[in-house]
Amino acid sequence: MQNQDKIINMFNEIAPTYDKANKILSFGIDASWRSSACDLVLKNFKSTLNIADVACGTGDMIKAWKSSAKKANLTIEKITGIDPSKEMLKVAKEKLPECEFIEAKADEMSLNLNTQDIVSISYGIRNVVARTQALREFNRVLKVGGYLVVLEFTKRDKNGLIAKIRDFYLHNILPIIGGLISKNKEAYEYLPKSIEGFLDSNEFCRELQDNGFEIVIVKGFSMDISTMFIAKKVKNI
Ligand SMILES: C[S@@+](CC[C@H](N)C(=O)[O-])C[C@H]1O[C@@H](n2cnc3c(N)ncnc32)[C@H](O)[C@@H]1O
Repeated sequence: MQNQDKIINMFNEIAPTYDKANKILSFGIDASWRSSACDLVLKNFKSTLNIADVACGTGDMIKAWKSSAKKANLTIEKITGIDPSKEMLKVAKEKLPECEFIEAKADEMSLNLNTQDIVSISYGIRNVVARTQALREFNRVLKVGGYLVVLEFTKRDKNGLIAKIRDFYLHNILPIIGGLISKNKEAYEYLPKSIEGFLDSNEFCRELQDNGFEIVIVKGFSMDISTMFIAKKVKNI
């Protein structure tokens, strides 16, 4: 599955059960990956913030930004959720009626130039077919000195016990459980395939650097199941 419309349609189909499946399949740990990333980035800010959360899905990263900002005593002036899936956005709007959402792809967000302090994308960049254009778009909307935060499952070395356990879980257990909850096994077979079709951490860092970003932190969570990339926009490209 590489066709962007097919990927978006798949998220439309699983949207009603996405949150439930996510919680079960990640044993609830995904919430801590999002909040750790938000806590870390917000340490760099003192003033009010404009944040764009791309591939926002059902809005969990937006919830994480809001609670981390509250903890850090920071004011979010505006937070915008962006996603091309109507149905994922429908769930997000029900959970976060006070937020603004835009139905758009990562490579063509209708946000103004140099306006965002933070752009985040959690478990979304893997699904973006026009990835280079999207990274250029993140650079365009961020202020110089602003931060890009990416959470993703990156491609891994297949050797080692942890890698073998992760692969077994992703290929054999996750599609069955995800398929049962969503009644769409194909969507959950797509997940391991999309991870294998993505980059490893070093390759992704090079792409970020090629698009005007300086790498600040790369950190693995939960035995490197999930990887966080924090990068700073150093120049307009
Ligand atoms: C795995 S979900 C992640 C949702 C949310 N960020 C989270 O952490 O739970 C991936 C999201 O990427 C979105 N997506 C797919 N293609 C996209 C694109 N080209 N640009 C932006 N978002 C896209 C999907 O609609 C879906 O909501």
